[in-house]
Amino acid sequence: METDISFTRYLSAKKSVDDRALNQQVWQTMAAALPPAARILEIGAGIGTMIERFWQHGLLTQASYTAIDSQPANIREAEKRLVGINGRFPLHLETIDLFDFIRREQGQTWDILIAHAFLDLMDIPATLPLLFSLLKPGGHFYFTINFDGVTILEPTIDPQLDARIEQLYHRTMDERITNGKPSGDSRSGRHLFHHLRQAGAEILAAGSSDWVVFAGEDGYPDDEAAFLHFIIRTMQEALTGHPELDATQFDAWTSQRQRQIEEGTLVYIAHQLDFVGRILT
Ligand SMILES: C[S@@+](CC[C@H](N)C(=O)[O-])C[C@H]1O[C@@H](n2cnc3c(N)ncnc32)[C@H](O)[C@@H]1O
Repeated sequence: METDISFTRYLSAKKSVDDRALNQQVWQTMAAALPPAARILEIGAGIGTMIERFWQHGLLTQASYTAIDSQPANIREAEKRLVGINGRFPLHLETIDLFDFIRREQGQTWDILIAHAFLDLMDIPATLPLLFSLLKPGGHFYFTINFDGVTILEPTIDPQLDARIEQLYHRTMDERITNGKPSGDSRSGRHLFHHLRQAGAEILAAGSSDWVVFAGEDGYPDDEAAFLHFIIRTMQEALTGHPELDATQFDAWTSQRQRQIEEGTLVYIAHQLDFVGRILT
């Protein structure tokens, strides 16, 4: 049983899960708001799956797309994946930290800013004003797959233990520190309504984009078993050695979740929200 899934494989496996999850009304609102010859900026773009999605939906025929990520391995993988469409429209891929990029690009503006499965890793109220400085007046944002505080794993192993693990796992998101600063919020989705308005934005559409992963007759679709293994591994890494969990019990729980993936019985649901809107100034 292969449970040690690389991050780039996880992002690739996540694509089909995201395709089902993305809120269609929010997507349509975003697509209708895209100006012709849009200058698009995506931050935390990973291996470039959103670029592929935009291309497949015919949204890039006149557009230019800049995509950044802080991890060189992700950008290298994006370059490989996108070799078939690179050159069909202006595409700039770069390994750079978001905050270095913001400092370097002061004065540059884009028509639309995309952050997909990214904002919930940030200190959102502190970051939004910096992000909006990258948009032209009236520019749009498309912020998708913002985690919102519900992780469901079925079938139940032990109701009390399952609930405890979910609660402690979410707490690790709330208490996350990156570069010495608080970053992350397990209820980013619902909190974005307020944070966006506080930062001077108008929300044009919002809706849920829950991940729902289950196996059919032929097992999990595409590489989604690997996606699930990565999720269970992430929970294991976040909670191993946690003083409020019995180590033997947690080990047994993790092994059972892994067996459920192998058997195709594990159902995983994560509640998330998508937003599209524009800045008012
Ligand atoms: C959960 S992944 C999502 C990636 C991609 N948007 C997707 O959904 O496939 C978050 C990404 O943000 C990147 N990231 C995290 N902090 C960053 C920062 N400060 N600057 C740029 N990228 C960052 C990570 O390297 C990672 O690829």
